[in-house]
Amino acid sequence: MRMYDIIAKKKIGYELTLDEIEFAFMGFTREEIPDYQMSALLMAIYFNGMTLSETINLTKCMANSGEKVDLSEIQGIKVDKHSTGGVGDKTTLIVTPIVAACGVKVAKMSGKGLGFTGGTIDKLESIKGFDTCLSIQRFIEAVNKVGACIAGGTSNLAPADKKLYALRDVTATVDSIPLIASSIMSKKLASGADGILLDVKTGSGAFMKSIEDSIKLAQIMVDIGYGAGKKVSALITNMDIPLGNKIGNSLEVVEAVQILKGAGPKDLTQMCVALAVEMLVLAGRGDADFCTSLVEETLSSGSAFEKLCEIVTEQGGDAQMIREPSGFTVARVCKEVISPKSGYITKMDTEAVGISSVMLGAGRDTKDSEIDYSAGIDMKKKTGDYVKEGETVAVFYTQSEELFDNAAEKYLSALTISGNKPSESPLIYAKVEKSHIMRYE
Ligand code: URA
Repeated sequence: MRMYDIIAKKKIGYELTLDEIEFAFMGFTREEIPDYQMSALLMAIYFNGMTLSETINLTKCMANSGEKVDLSEIQGIKVDKHSTGGVGDKTTLIVTPIVAACGVKVAKMSGKGLGFTGGTIDKLESIKGFDTCLSIQRFIEAVNKVGACIAGGTSNLAPADKKLYALRDVTATVDSIPLIASSIMSKKLASGADGILLDVKTGSGAFMKSIEDSIKLAQIMVDIGYGAGKKVSALITNMDIPLGNKIGNSLEVVEAVQILKGAGPKDLTQMCVALAVEMLVLAGRGDADFCTSLVEETLSSGSAFEKLCEIVTEQGGDAQMIREPSGFTVARVCKEVISPKSGYITKMDTEAVGISSVMLGAGRDTKDSEIDYSAGIDMKKKTGDYVKEGETVAVFYTQSEELFDNAAEKYLSALTISGNKPSESPLIYAKVEKSHIMRYE
């Protein structure tokens, strides 16, 4: 078999066999296939797509490329959740302790930020001492002891995906439905949870820009999950506006704590309640009404907040930072971004907002860049708000004064300000289950 022939076959849109997929992708993982040939194949897949059977074969091939986590030592149903990536998306920090406080075990494997999207592991690592690199045994112990654990995946969990994702990130081949579906589901199949909730983001701050593409992606992932014996459902959620008011690692941890104390922004609270309810329903904890009341009770009683403190302590973090919150690295520069005109914010290009936070130091330019945990954005006005000329639209945090101007320019370019108040768009557009789509629009 030759990689050249596989590329040529995909270039004209033919279906690859399981053997061809294994030859190409395992060969690439073993470094027998060079980056330039894999890049060509990825671009051919980007333009010509993959059939469901090709996507399933690619998923299985990547899931089998490393070790698989066996969670059978943990009693009961274990649930996980995975977001396709967004801006200001700190829901894992909130939903994980809520679900655990409701009595369902959460075995959560998370990732680092990539491109303009943030990652849970970076946010958690802004807490002093918090260890996300756990052995599988420690991961299992933590879930058994406190009911939840959030780890960064072992280095050998779906290594084919790790290598491929890094290449996709620099070859403009991330936003492909079969490539995203196989990337996410390979990690989920390898990481052992019984129930998986997929949060498929849609809009200007997501890899999928349209609701229809997001539904297509969700259906493929749900089918792959069921084919592997997992219970999977997906919510299609709005990423045309950043979630909550804060973007940036420690800023997002602080906002997550506010939500768990009942004092955070409404959009983020509603989103987290919806995600937590879905995870509980997937785990068979009860119907949606019962699970909603359970979730609300854990928020109002403070038990979800206490659960977050337990998770932080169990993973070696300083829970005092969460209780106050204090002790996070403080940004040297804190500066306001001023609106150049009056009017309603009718649109935010959320990808550009995410890029401006990366420009402040909150994300990575290259996969080896250092993150500034204190950097980020506190949005004072979002889509639908009225802003006066000269008023503050956002406060920027960064360690370096020099980063401010370009990031502010990028941020302002992301805002459309005009005379008419826009209509409010829903937070959740649809729910995708096996053979069933429920639209909420
Ligand atoms: N998240 C992933 O894990 N993989 C993708 O391809 C996109 C988002």
